[in-house]
Amino acid sequence: MYATEYAPLYAPYSGNEIAQISLADERLVEQAITAAQKATPLMRRMPAYQRASLLERISILMGERMEEAARMIALEAGKPIKTARGEVIRTIQTYKFAAEEAKRLHGETIPMDAAVGGEGRVAYTVREPLGVIGAITPFNFPMNLVAHKVGPALAAGNTVVLKPASQTPLSALFLAEIAEQAGVPAGALNIVTGSGSSVGDLLVKDPRIKAITFTGSPSVGMDIRNRAGLKRVTLELGSNSAVIVDRDVHLEEVIPRCIFGAFAYSGQVCISVQKIYVVKELYEPFVSRFVTETRRLRGGDSLSEDADYSAMIHPNETQRVLSWVEEAALQGARIECGGACEGRMLQPTVMTGVPEDAKLSCQEVFGPVVLINPVDSVQHAIELVNDSRYGLQAGVYTNHLGTAMLAADELHVGGVMINDIPTFRVDHMPYGGVKESGMGREGVKYAMEELTECKLVVMKK
Ligand code: SIN
Repeated sequence: MYATEYAPLYAPYSGNEIAQISLADERLVEQAITAAQKATPLMRRMPAYQRASLLERISILMGERMEEAARMIALEAGKPIKTARGEVIRTIQTYKFAAEEAKRLHGETIPMDAAVGGEGRVAYTVREPLGVIGAITPFNFPMNLVAHKVGPALAAGNTVVLKPASQTPLSALFLAEIAEQAGVPAGALNIVTGSGSSVGDLLVKDPRIKAITFTGSPSVGMDIRNRAGLKRVTLELGSNSAVIVDRDVHLEEVIPRCIFGAFAYSGQVCISVQKIYVVKELYEPFVSRFVTETRRLRGGDSLSEDADYSAMIHPNETQRVLSWVEEAALQGARIECGGACEGRMLQPTVMTGVPEDAKLSCQEVFGPVVLINPVDSVQHAIELVNDSRYGLQAGVYTNHLGTAMLAADELHVGGVMINDIPTFRVDHMPYGGVKESGMGREGVKYAMEELTECKLVVMKK
C-alpha cells in the first residue's frame, strides 16, 4: 500500500529540496502495526543464533556502504561529514553489539530452598520478547539512535514499527533496504515516515504495541508517559549537561575536549557540553584559551571535508537559540565570541556571566552555545549541577581521587565521566537519565532488559 500524500525534505545547509517523503496516514500505520503483529510468532521462535546472524549481516552490509551512509546523514541532518562518518562507525558497532547480545540473553536460577516452603523445587527465569515495539527516534543521530532501538528490539526477538524524525527519514529508509538484504523477515521491521505527532499518537494508543522507546524532548516524552497506560516506556530525553574543571588539570587537554563537546554537530546532542564550571584560580586563562580556540573552528557545507560546524537542523531552531542568547545578554551576560549567523549557520558561541535562571542556563539549548562560569570549589559546582531539572551525564576533570569520588557519589545524573566531558558515550555502556532526562536505560544489553519480560518457571521435583 502506498501513501497518498508526500512532503518535500530540505537539506539544512543549502535549503535545497533533496527528496519527497511519504506522509503515513492512519491506514499506513495500521498496515505497519498489523504486519509487525503478524511477524511476532516468527521472531519470538527464531533461535538466538539466527537473530544474531541477521544483526551481524546488517552490521557488515552497513560497513560496505559506509561512505554512502555518512553522506546521507551529512546531507539530511546537516551533520559535518567528518562527524557523520563517526556516527556510521558507531552504528556498525551498535548492530554488532546487538548480534553479540542476542546470544547472551538469559535469565537466572533461583535458590528456591532459601525460603521456608521453597524446598523441593527448581526455578529459573527466562527473558521473553514483549512483541511489537514502537520506536520513535530523533534527527540528531539518524542512524545510530535508530540502531539503539532496532538492534536491541530484534536481538531480543521483538518486531518493530519505527517512526524516524520527520527531518531525517532517509537514514531510516536506508536501514530498511539493508535489513531486507540482510534477510530480516517481512513484518519484523516496519518504517512509517511523516509528521511526528500524528504517527506517534497512533503508536502510543494502539494496544498491540507493547512498548514505546522514545528519544526526544522532555515535553513529548512526558506526554507519551502519561498516555501510554500499561505499556513499557523508555525515555531518553534532554539535558543541560555540565562539566566541572578542578585546579591542577592540563588545560591543553581539557579545552579541546570541551570545545568538541560543546560544538560537535552544533550542540544538537543530548549530552552536549552546555555549561562549564571552572574553579576560580583557572577561570581567566580557561576562558581566554577557550575563546581563542573556538574562533579557529570552521563553518561550511556539511558535505565539505573542512567543515567543523554547519547549519542547524532548521532555521526556526537557529532563531530560537539566537533569541535565548539575546535574552541572556539583556540579563547582563557577555558574548565572548559567536552570537551571530553566517548564512544558515549559527557561529559557535561562548558566553560568560549568564544568570543561573536564564533559559540558556536552565533549559536545554540544543544548539552551539556554551556557558563558562567560575566556582569556588568542585563541591560548589556539584551543587549548581544538581540544581537542574535534568540529569543525564556530567563530566569532572580533576587530578584528586577524593574529589573524583565525591563527584561520583554526589552528582545526581545517569552517568558521571571522570576526566572527560559528559558527551562521552560508547554504545554498549548504560545510557540514560534521571529527573526530566528520562527513564530506563539504553546501551544494547540494557535496552534489551527494557524490551523483554522476565518469566519465572518453578518445577516441583
Ligand atoms: C543523544 O543525543 O542522546 C545521543 C548521544 C550519543 O549517542 O552520542
